[in-house]
Amino acid sequence: MTPSNVKATLSFSDGSPAMELPIYKGSIGPDVIDIRKLYAQTGKFTYDPGFLSTAACNSTITYIDGDKGELLYRGYPIEQLATQCDFLDTCYLLLYGELPNAQQQKDFDTLVTRHTMVNEQMQFYLRGFRRDAHPMAVMTGLVGALSAFYHDSTDIHNAKHREISAIRLIAKMPTLVAMAYKYGIGQPFIYPRNELSYSANFMRMMFATPCEEYVSNPVLVRAIDRIFILHADHEQNASTSTVRLCGSSGTNPFAAIAAGVACLWGPAHGGANEAALNMLKEIQREGGVEKIGEFIKRVKDKNSTVKLMGFGHRVYKNYDPRAKLMRETCHEVLEALGLHDDPLFKLAMSLEKIALEDEYFVARKLYPNVDFYSGIVQSALGIPVTLFTAIFALARTVGWIAQLNEMIADPEYKIGRPRQLYAGSVRRDVLPIAARA
Ligand code: SDX
Repeated sequence: MTPSNVKATLSFSDGSPAMELPIYKGSIGPDVIDIRKLYAQTGKFTYDPGFLSTAACNSTITYIDGDKGELLYRGYPIEQLATQCDFLDTCYLLLYGELPNAQQQKDFDTLVTRHTMVNEQMQFYLRGFRRDAHPMAVMTGLVGALSAFYHDSTDIHNAKHREISAIRLIAKMPTLVAMAYKYGIGQPFIYPRNELSYSANFMRMMFATPCEEYVSNPVLVRAIDRIFILHADHEQNASTSTVRLCGSSGTNPFAAIAAGVACLWGPAHGGANEAALNMLKEIQREGGVEKIGEFIKRVKDKNSTVKLMGFGHRVYKNYDPRAKLMRETCHEVLEALGLHDDPLFKLAMSLEKIALEDEYFVARKLYPNVDFYSGIVQSALGIPVTLFTAIFALARTVGWIAQLNEMIADPEYKIGRPRQLYAGSVRRDVLPIAARA
């Protein structure tokens, strides 16, 4: 980061000594005011619950311009990566900072392929769950449990351990998500096949059975691969910040990623795609397009807690570029499957049109985000609603790992330990129970 020649001065109306705060510039995006010495010099904290105005780290991985609706992975626009690269290229880019050349691509693909199996003991861990357990409950458990199988590589401060853990997590997430799905529907687990691509392998582990040869549909494989690319990383979102904070204690990479899985589960975050599809189905049940107006009224009603799921974003105050690409993918998949008249897709497009013309959404700069269309396309791919967020976690694992490794590799990093504004009781003494009111 580059020192700005502009300084910030903090002064106090009670005559307390003013303080000069350095400002730093990034390569693009907002400058930062360095407050690291604030408490030592003033005895005061900053106050920013939700971190709306707080940069928690210095990163070179992903950049979002919320006003332009722009998303860059290592400087490459998401539109170019989603149409010109595949997910493993994107993983390589996020992990190492550059797109792979032909040899690097071949070596990386081979390395990941050779780590797609999980220890057979994992099957017995799964059997401890009810068959109807939510897949995110299963995934939170399975990912955390991985650390129990790799005692040889859990030292997060060892670069070689970080490297092999990254490969193992990227390689095994599709296998674990497919196992969680098969366990839930009572079908046998399908082992990965080394001759298949990453995404073709996932689709086969999800939908093949031992009873017949599985023939994958290249359009659907390409669609799931694009879904992975679109969800791979997204700056310091809630789950990535969770992974960074968790990893800052020095815990092993598997435990830190498991914390990210748990955070992503929430409906305000990665759980929004499941919530968005359930919302569309509810409107459909209530009467479809004719009922959109009534639904929007409920969303705008301050007394209701109804939100338009898949809309709005902390950073994007323009169209989420991933939502545009997801809508295109949705259209391609529905066309390929002969479902162009899919009522939910038509309903989603009507809802989007109405919302984008409504003052409530326009005034608040609420646009569709990545989750608005992803549920429809995943449903068309045959993925059950309860598995949507697990797919999101599969894709975001590479982003979490890249962000975690960036933090750990920074010699200046410390364990994260935010402070607070305390508004509770001042010191008081315990009274004998007989004397209590
Ligand atoms: C993801 O951070 C990331 O990058 C996340 C993510 C990633 O890739 O990691 O992009 C993935 O999580 C996408 C977001 C998925 N969530 C949803 O679609 C759930 C619905 N969206 C909202 O819950 C909300 O928009 C958030 C949580 C996404 C963002 O909320 P903010 O930034 O805290 O904004 P806010 O809640 O303060 O909203 C500002 C106003 C409020 O109204 P007023 O108080 O001004 O009257 O907008 C309203 C909100 O009530 N609002 C909505 C709304 N989202 C915000 N009103 C109706 N429907 C919505 N979806």
